[in-house]
Amino acid sequence: MSLRAFVAAPAAQAILAQGAAWGLTLGAAALGALPAGHPWLFAATQGVAAALIARWMGAPPWWWAIHAVFAPLLLAASTWHLAPAWYLGGFVLLALFYWSSYRTQVPLYLSNAATVAAVAELVPPDRASAVLDLGSGIGSLIRPLARQRPMARCVGIEMAPGSLWLGRLLARGLPNLSQRRADFWGESWRDYDLVYAFLSPVPMARIGEKAAAELGPQAVLISNSFPIPNRKPDFVLDLPDRRRTRLYGYRFGRPRQSGQ
Ligand SMILES: C[S@@+](CC[C@H](N)C(=O)[O-])C[C@H]1O[C@@H](n2cnc3c(N)ncnc32)[C@H](O)[C@@H]1O
Repeated sequence: MSLRAFVAAPAAQAILAQGAAWGLTLGAAALGALPAGHPWLFAATQGVAAALIARWMGAPPWWWAIHAVFAPLLLAASTWHLAPAWYLGGFVLLALFYWSSYRTQVPLYLSNAATVAAVAELVPPDRASAVLDLGSGIGSLIRPLARQRPMARCVGIEMAPGSLWLGRLLARGLPNLSQRRADFWGESWRDYDLVYAFLSPVPMARIGEKAAAELGPQAVLISNSFPIPNRKPDFVLDLPDRRRTRLYGYRFGRPRQSGQ
């Protein structure tokens, strides 16, 4: 990763904003601009400084809020006198489930039952087919789908070990579902009739390119909530659920050639 790409990454920007705000606030305290013995004032000043720096760096508004509360929450947590192992445990748990989200910008959130029902409608109940879930999380889509469509070969690819282990545990005994730990960019999507993605806006242009290169003429790509930029979906499904889920359907229509 180049230095420019590193500095543009949200996680790196967050570290830079926090670091700069700590530096400024400590500097202000050392120069006497902040009265000594007022930790809450110090934390609030650091929070405001970090939020302003993040805003100046072009971070989206929800990052400003995270920066604003980070130091005050740190101070509050220090008054709870929890053993350090709790913090380590919390960090490990989050890391197991969010793994490379800081890099992929795709966090874990779960497909709901309405989405499973809509996707199941696209999978034939009476003949063999193959379904791939890109980033299958804990299996919220691919597991019930495998149950509802026993003739379909269902595959989930997931990078985060915690999600994968939980997904496998919940799917014990389902013969038509396999979930494996891999990076879906490094896997072939050619052998699938339906590819499902519930990711984020960030990877969608690349998803479109890979799908166009690899999916067969009958295959369909379903993207939950995030359209492929600059490509009109072949169909859109608006679901009657609380979050008003929108599924974008794409067919790429390019015949697969042998050896490709
Ligand atoms: C929003 S969740 C969706 C989970 C599941 N598909 C569902 O609908 O309930 C996206 C998942 O994709 C995983 N992910 C992101 N990029 C990935 C990659 N390149 N390879 C494998 N998994 C990835 C994340 O770890 C996360 O669990």
